[in-house]
Amino acid sequence: MRLLSGRAREFLRSGKPYPFAEEYGRRRGLINLASNESPFGPSPLVLRALREALPSVGFYPDPRSGELRRAVGRYVGLSEEEVLVGNGSDELMDLLCRALLDPGDRVLLPLPSFSFYETGVRLSGGVPLFYTGRDLEWDPRELISLCRRVKMVFLGRPNNPTGGCLPEEAVEGMLETGTVVVVDEAYVEFSSLGSLARWVRGRENLVVLRTFSKAFGLAGLRVGYLLADPGLVSAMERLRQPFNVNRLAQVAALAALRDRGYLRRVVEEVRRERERLRGELVRLGLRVLPSEANFLMANTSRLGLTATGLCRELHRRGILIRDLSSFRGAGREWVRITVGRKEENERLIEALGKLRR
Ligand SMILES: Cc1ncc(COP(=O)(O)O)c(C=O)c1O
Repeated sequence: MRLLSGRAREFLRSGKPYPFAEEYGRRRGLINLASNESPFGPSPLVLRALREALPSVGFYPDPRSGELRRAVGRYVGLSEEEVLVGNGSDELMDLLCRALLDPGDRVLLPLPSFSFYETGVRLSGGVPLFYTGRDLEWDPRELISLCRRVKMVFLGRPNNPTGGCLPEEAVEGMLETGTVVVVDEAYVEFSSLGSLARWVRGRENLVVLRTFSKAFGLAGLRVGYLLADPGLVSAMERLRQPFNVNRLAQVAALAALRDRGYLRRVVEEVRRERERLRGELVRLGLRVLPSEANFLMANTSRLGLTATGLCRELHRRGILIRDLSSFRGAGREWVRITVGRKEENERLIEALGKLRR
């Protein structure tokens, strides 16, 4: 395409896979265990608040998302000045790369990980430095040493798709190198290890990303937030689009934060089902990584199938899971399974049991 800029052409040539998984368009009537959403959706209080807010959609939203920033601040134990909200954390990743990277800056991407990190980096002219540990394990010493060679690093904690969490000491060691450490905590509510949100205070080179898309069940409304030093937050406030978080999204996120009881119940149920599902998959002979998130990464080789083969078989039986063959660093025999409702997980276990025979 002749009209594209050099940067856009370079990005398209980079081999970065297509960002939208097919299941977003074909989930009707299927059990979707591919997108890491909450199987329970949002709290009933959110739905009520949305109904009440509908007549006001003719008006622009609060451009500063002031009330929401204060509420998020209270939720994570920081001040409003340390919080930036966005149209999903995807927007904030993109904005962060545009704010911090100059063309040619290197960014460490331990693999496998969430694919949008690479998109954000490349679209800002940054150059990814990929690191794959051994057997899907990251070695903290190697990471710390690589940090000295880059401007920024993206770490999922818990990481998507492995579900693992780097220990705090490893993150501390990376921060000590002075590089910008972006800790993506999209799934932190499901983890027993806790958040690093409060570490943001006094550490200029730490950025934490969080979202309402997962445990709060608001993926369709697109609300995420970034926690960082007030200096970086106020710079990014001036770089973002003026009305980046829409009116309904602000209303819904505020209501979701008010219903902590619902959040607690969702998290407890997902954790319980995660461990039960993991046990069942292991019983079926699969290798499954331990997970701190709402999904499990499992190896398909003991079923005698590739990841693509297994996904195809399950799709025929009405179940979607994620084929990780297109994830950099995952190989051809890994899939990611979102923890669903008990009955959905049962259907999956039953289907896998039949496939094994
Ligand atoms: C690790 C990780 N970070 C961020 C996101 C995106 O979150 P949001 O919906 O807030 O853009 C996802 C979505 O799947 C994810 O897996």
